[in-house]
Amino acid sequence: MKIVTIIGARPQFIKAAMVSRELVKCKKGAGAPCNQEIVVHTGQHYDYNMSKVFFEELAIPEPDHHLGVGSGSHGHMTGQMIAKIEDVLFDEKPDLVLVYGDTNSTLAGAIAASKLHIPVAHVEAGLRSFNRRMPEEINRVLTDHVSKLLFAPTGTAITNLAREGITDGVIQTGDVMLDAFMHFKTKAAIDSQILDTLGITAGSYYLATVHRQENTDDPHRLAGIFSAFEEISNNGHPVIVPLHPRTRKSLQQNDISVAQGSNVRLVEAVGYLDMIQLEANATLICTDSGGVQKEAYFANVPCITLRDETEWVETVDAGANFLTDTDKQSIFNAFKQASCTSIKLDPALYGNGHAAEIIVDSLTESL
Ligand code: UD1
Ligand code: UDP
Repeated sequence: MKIVTIIGARPQFIKAAMVSRELVKCKKGAGAPCNQEIVVHTGQHYDYNMSKVFFEELAIPEPDHHLGVGSGSHGHMTGQMIAKIEDVLFDEKPDLVLVYGDTNSTLAGAIAASKLHIPVAHVEAGLRSFNRRMPEEINRVLTDHVSKLLFAPTGTAITNLAREGITDGVIQTGDVMLDAFMHFKTKAAIDSQILDTLGITAGSYYLATVHRQENTDDPHRLAGIFSAFEEISNNGHPVIVPLHPRTRKSLQQNDISVAQGSNVRLVEAVGYLDMIQLEANATLICTDSGGVQKEAYFANVPCITLRDETEWVETVDAGANFLTDTDKQSIFNAFKQASCTSIKLDPALYGNGHAAEIIVDSLTESL
C-alpha cells in the first residue's frame, strides 16, 4: 500500500511520528515492508525549533517532498499548498492520503486528494469547538466531510461526527498524542537537560504556552494574558513560557512585554523531549494549545485553558482543565481554582497508547 502523508506544522510532526513507525512494520509477516510511506512537508512551519528538531528527536523519516510554502494569509498558504500537493499526487499516485489534525496543511491535503478521487484518511477526526471563527474549526469540518476513513480519538469525536451525518468509515482509535507521550516520557526524563538549563526544579515552576490566533492577534487579550502571568509568578514560582514565533512577533508589534525583574521567563520554543519534561514536572500549566491541554492531563498536572471553549471536553469534566476568559482577573481566578483541584484521572479516555497500531491496521484492512 502506498500512502502519502501530508504534514507541515509542529503538532503534526509529533502525531505522524507514531503512525510512521507503525506503517513501516509489515503486518502480513512477509518479511519485506508492506507499506510505502511518502512524506510530504508543506513547509508551513520552517524554523529549526518548529520543524527539524522534531524529525531529529522523534526519528521521523526525512520528507520525500518539501513544498516550502512558508507563512502567509490563510488563502494564499492553503491555495499554494493545494497546487503543490496536487503535483506530488499526480507523480506519486498513492492508494491513500493521510492527514493529521486541523491545520491549513490538513485541509490542503484533503482537498487536493479528494478532487483526484484519492481516498483521504484523517487522524484526529471529529474534534469540534463549535466556534467557526477559529480557522482550525473550518479545516476540521471540511476535512472530515471529504474523508473516507475517520480516525476519532474519543467517544465525543464519534458523537460529533454522527451529529453531522458521518458514520461510515469512523473508527475510534484513541489519541496518537498519548502514544507519543507514553513512548517518549522516559527518554525525556533521562535525556532532557531543560530543567538544569533553566535553573528550575521539579514542582517549582509554572509552564505556559500561547499561540492561538484569537489570543495573539488581539492585543487586548494578549496583554491580559501576559499581565496575568506576571501576577501568577508573584506566587513564589517562575512562569516559564516557551514562545511560539507568532506570539513573539505579536508581543513585539504590540509593544507588550513583561516587567523587568518579573518572574516570567520568556524562552525560545523547545523541542518535544524538553517540552514533555517541562510539562511532567510543572506545578500547573496555562495554555491555549490543544496538544498541551491533553499532555497536561496525561501528566496529571492541572491546566488553565485561555479560551472560551475546548475540543477536549473530557479534561474539563475530569476537573483537570479550567477554561477562562483572558483578562488578568479571570485568569488569576482560574489559577486559584486549578491550584486546588483534584483531578479524576481516567487513563482510558484517550485510549491505551496503541492508537497508531489501530490506525495502521484499519488502513491495511480498508485497502
Ligand atoms: C498553526 C495552525 C494551528 C496549530 C499551530 C501549531 C493553521 C490555521 N493553524 O498555527 O492550528 O495549532 O500551527 O503550532 O494552520 N512562524 C515563524 N516560523 C515558523 C512558523 C511560523 O516565524 O516556523 C510565524 C510566522 O510569522 C507566521 C506565524 O508564525 O505567519 C503563524 O504561523 P502559521 O503556520 O500561519 O500559524 P500558527 O499560529 O503556527
Ligand atoms: N510543543 C513543543 N515545544 C513547544 C511547545 C509545544 O514541542 O515549545 C509540543 C507540545 O508538547 C505538543 C505540541 O507541540 O505535543 C502542541 O503543538 P501546538 O501547541 O503548537 O499546537 P496545537 O496542539 O494547539 O495544535
